[in-house]
Amino acid sequence: MGGLRKRTSMIPSAGPSITDLEVRLVTQAVRDGWYERMSDYLDRFERAFSDYTGMRYCLATNTCTGALHLALLGLGVGPGHEIIVPDITWVASAAPICYTGAKPVFVDIDRTSWCLAPESVERAITKKTKAVIAVGLMGNLPDFDAIRSIAARHHIPIIEDAAQSIGAEYHGQKAGTFGTVGVFSFNGTKLLVTGEGGMLVTNDRSLYGRLKRLQHHGIDKEREGKYFWSYELGYKYKMSNLQAALGLAQLRRIDELVAMRRRIFAWYQQRLRWIEGLQLNQESPGLKSTFWLVTVILSSEYGLKKEPLMERLRGWRIDSRPFFYPLSSMPTFARYCRGNQMWRVNQIAYALSPYGISLPSAASLTESDVAYVCDVLKDLLVKSKAKTISHRAKRTSSRVPVLV
Ligand SMILES: Cc1ncc(COP(=O)(O)O)c(C=O)c1O
Repeated sequence: MGGLRKRTSMIPSAGPSITDLEVRLVTQAVRDGWYERMSDYLDRFERAFSDYTGMRYCLATNTCTGALHLALLGLGVGPGHEIIVPDITWVASAAPICYTGAKPVFVDIDRTSWCLAPESVERAITKKTKAVIAVGLMGNLPDFDAIRSIAARHHIPIIEDAAQSIGAEYHGQKAGTFGTVGVFSFNGTKLLVTGEGGMLVTNDRSLYGRLKRLQHHGIDKEREGKYFWSYELGYKYKMSNLQAALGLAQLRRIDELVAMRRRIFAWYQQRLRWIEGLQLNQESPGLKSTFWLVTVILSSEYGLKKEPLMERLRGWRIDSRPFFYPLSSMPTFARYCRGNQMWRVNQIAYALSPYGISLPSAASLTESDVAYVCDVLKDLLVKSKAKTISHRAKRTSSRVPVLV
């Protein structure tokens, strides 16, 4: 490739920003977070999360997958029920539905937001529908005005999966606060990390009580003062005090963490927006995305699918991630989709998925990393012989050959 020097180390796709603040709080927790203070950091993290989101009850969990499982159980989901979930999301948005014995119903995404398409939610509702899981994909949010009005009309609760969208806002309201329950993920790739971890938020006091019990083997310390007494079969989905210390430090920096991701997106946007046939994350009016993962969908005219593109980028020491595959196309969920031609039902999901990749978006990225990724990407696109695609950047300032 003309003039481009291959990097020696890999440019990472996702990863956190850790400062002395995190190191200090975690070290402190290792020293003093035991004995009578064994849940101090957890309590502080949950309280701080409540202040941040404005949600009354927050429960820190071991993972977001666990939080989703609890949310479903708390809403009484079980065999015979259907749960609506977008076809394009991480597998963990849907797997907990199956843990409960309910059926996931995969619906289409919106072409612009890549989140739940409201009209496909409406179409999928039946008498068996017990909840809708609305996912904020890649740091974006769905059209919550429309989804909430559909859900309210049918008296169906929303579980908001904000694993990827912490820090995003819709008309000034924070991600994770749009449903009866909201869940977050803090695994090592997320905008806010605790290593592994999650959070469950709700304003419903009695639901919170039940979720807290289910989270810890059915034990209810508030009740009757019986120690070690289990009232119902539960799970062990708790976060550790040490992880909570890390979460607490990260949460203090949440605005900075969001600003970092938005800056990375702006660097990409500046360099890629003139390329035709390439759709970057969109921010609709009223929405503030975090751009957690900067993602591009290529026009099929490039003739370049995501797998070969990722492989070529890897050759240039650039890590990337595939746009999610439709869950309905996976063997894991085949039994729930039998008899349906899902590519006909969820046409946008199936049309976009083969051509999408998430570019490096780790918090550690510099502008020169992003410039390098964009230069490599542009060259790869040019080489894929997309004759119909025209490049609008000025010939003089462009560092890549210009397609005409
Ligand atoms: C949309 C979505 N939901 C749920 C999860 C599950 O989160 P965790 O890894 O904390 O279980 C993830 C994790 O990547 C996710 O992206």
